[in-house]
Amino acid sequence: MLIGQNIPRVDGLAKLRGEAVYVDDIVVDGVLHGGTVRSQVARGRIRGVHFDPSIPWDEYTIVDHRDIAGANEVLLIERDQPALVAVEIRHKYEPILLIAHPSPSAVRRAVAGVRVEVEPLPAILDPCQAVTPELVQYGDDNVFKRVELTKGDVEEVFRSSPTVVEGEYSTGSQEHVYLENQGMLAFERDGQLVVQGSMQCPYYVLDSLTNFFGREADKFRVIQAAVGGGFGGKEDYPSILAIHAALLAEKSGKPVKIIYDRQEDMACTTKRHPSHVRHRTAVDDDGRLLAMDIEVTLDGGAYLTLSPVVLSRGVIHSAGPYRCDNVRVRGEARLTNTPPNGAFRGFGAPQTIFAVERHMDVIAKQLGMCPVTLRKRNFLRDGDTTATGQVVKDGVDMSAMLDRAIELSSYTKRREEHAAANAKHPYLKRGIAFSTFYHGAGFTGSGETWLKSEVWVRGLPDGRAEVLTANTDIGQGTLTILTQIAAESLGFAPDQIVVAVPDTTRVPNSGPTVASRTAMVVGKLVSRACAKLATEASSGDPVKGVKLQQAIRDWYGDHPGQDLLCSVKYETPPGIRWDDDTYRGDAYACYAWAVNVAEVEVDLRTFATRVTDFVALQEVGKVIHPVLARGQIQGGVAQGIGWALLEEVVTADGGMKNNQMTNYVIPACSDLPPIRVWFEEQPSQFGPGGAKGIGELPMDGPAPAIVNAICGALDTSVCSIPITPERLFAHLEGSSDG
Ligand code: MOS
Repeated sequence: MLIGQNIPRVDGLAKLRGEAVYVDDIVVDGVLHGGTVRSQVARGRIRGVHFDPSIPWDEYTIVDHRDIAGANEVLLIERDQPALVAVEIRHKYEPILLIAHPSPSAVRRAVAGVRVEVEPLPAILDPCQAVTPELVQYGDDNVFKRVELTKGDVEEVFRSSPTVVEGEYSTGSQEHVYLENQGMLAFERDGQLVVQGSMQCPYYVLDSLTNFFGREADKFRVIQAAVGGGFGGKEDYPSILAIHAALLAEKSGKPVKIIYDRQEDMACTTKRHPSHVRHRTAVDDDGRLLAMDIEVTLDGGAYLTLSPVVLSRGVIHSAGPYRCDNVRVRGEARLTNTPPNGAFRGFGAPQTIFAVERHMDVIAKQLGMCPVTLRKRNFLRDGDTTATGQVVKDGVDMSAMLDRAIELSSYTKRREEHAAANAKHPYLKRGIAFSTFYHGAGFTGSGETWLKSEVWVRGLPDGRAEVLTANTDIGQGTLTILTQIAAESLGFAPDQIVVAVPDTTRVPNSGPTVASRTAMVVGKLVSRACAKLATEASSGDPVKGVKLQQAIRDWYGDHPGQDLLCSVKYETPPGIRWDDDTYRGDAYACYAWAVNVAEVEVDLRTFATRVTDFVALQEVGKVIHPVLARGQIQGGVAQGIGWALLEEVVTADGGMKNNQMTNYVIPACSDLPPIRVWFEEQPSQFGPGGAKGIGELPMDGPAPAIVNAICGALDTSVCSIPITPERLFAHLEGSSDG
């Protein structure tokens, strides 16, 4: 059994030795370095561009919108975002002009030597601000996407319900802070425009290049370099960056590299959507949820990019893992004049799960009920239906999981200890609380059906096997788990498996590396393609291991000049149905389920909160690689702690002001508690060996667990994150119950 084993990480040694080649490590003769001139206002019209006469401009390659022969649009879901602004500026730091030169410092001087004259226009910086006619920039009302999900009849229940609990919750923006900044290299070779760099989704980049330049896909070659972290930040942004590098390469006729520094990366690339969520919940005296009315507003930023699908995931997860016959969720993603917000681990779900999990504790408090009892009364069980009407069949017992997490964290004992200690201590206040949640694996709704992902496995003439997918290792372990899955399916040792570099001229489109889909969806396709290889190599009577390796070698003997390539495509599993118009049906093939318990200590001298202990218990199907899986959970929890307590994107005029790591504070090791990780395994039929998705789940639970713990420690109600010391101070000063 290789699935479930901690095999050595396939890319580990190369990364440890510094041999892995990231885009900025690629040495290219005669390369030019590219830089970007950006707007300095949130909204306006360009009146003129002025070049500092002391700079020798003839040494530079300069590209603006007039150099774009085809459509000036970055293809994502829609085509509303230009690659370079022609006239109308929609956000601060929007790209206007590209400059390239052999010397990076000469590029920096030149970028500073361009002055863009702008007539400012009124900007919209808050998604909840009223949209007056002069502010309209998308449709009639700046709403990128509206979603409504209805189950039962909420209004009917509210009319007859004695107890209705209301709450409003908001979450802030968040910067990905991947270790490696965004970067892209473009050059021409053999009649193709080659783009190589830091990315999650090579085929997204390819699609946006073919759309932008209006050429066939075979005129481009997109190759992933080693990538130092993505977290969603390299899902859509590489598309515009690839276009920029390609424009400069075409105009100069030379290879061009654009590597952002940390400040440019933080200010200009996507972030997590800030959110505002309102809950109105009817409950009976026993705490049963009778009706949930939820409104979700996401701040999309200046262009639509991926906001509709972020909103979808957010809306679908907004009612939590609870049984309720009457649910209405209305969601909107709205335009603001800030850089577009984009994918970030969890993709809308952390925002709405923060709201519902904080709200559950608010309900418990209002009813005078223990939050454990309230959750247990309402957990979804097999046979119940989710908010979209999906019948739950995962076979997971959330009540038992909550019991286990409570035991692992000594929740009950700690609560008693804290109550006694808090009554005595003048300024240290402790609390412990939890969140219970689930996260759908794979694309939402019919997404996987539309994607039709394809995976190839090739028998190599020497008897080994090559796995070909477009899915990228961005630090999370794709190379290793795909190796395990293929090796297990074929009965090979891991070193008999080669995983191809994602290169669009070599690998099929197996979909993007997002949405907790790689292990489950792509992994399953890899195992199916391997089964096909075993059958084809041995003419219908599949064998494994050394026999299969011999069969592959024999096949090449019998088929000179041919290629033993086996291809499989995604097929919607039987019984999975989704209706895009009504938002009803099976939103995800299956879910991962989890309980997080956080213990905190608030220091009322500094108003700083420390997380002192953290228990993460999750059911993720079969765990493919326990060490990597633990790493995923611990990393996600660390990001969740940062989002809850430390990370504040400070803006001025719609632009990030603290765009450097000295004052955008992310958790250091010294800020983290022991993150104690436990798995439960309820194998799923949808993933290889029973595995489900795991990547996004750990981002969902920490923030509400932590804030619930703070609220318990201080006997107050905080409904907004990040709860930095300054914000906690303001909250306690301003509230009578503090
Ligand atoms: Mo993602 S946040 O689905 O890369």
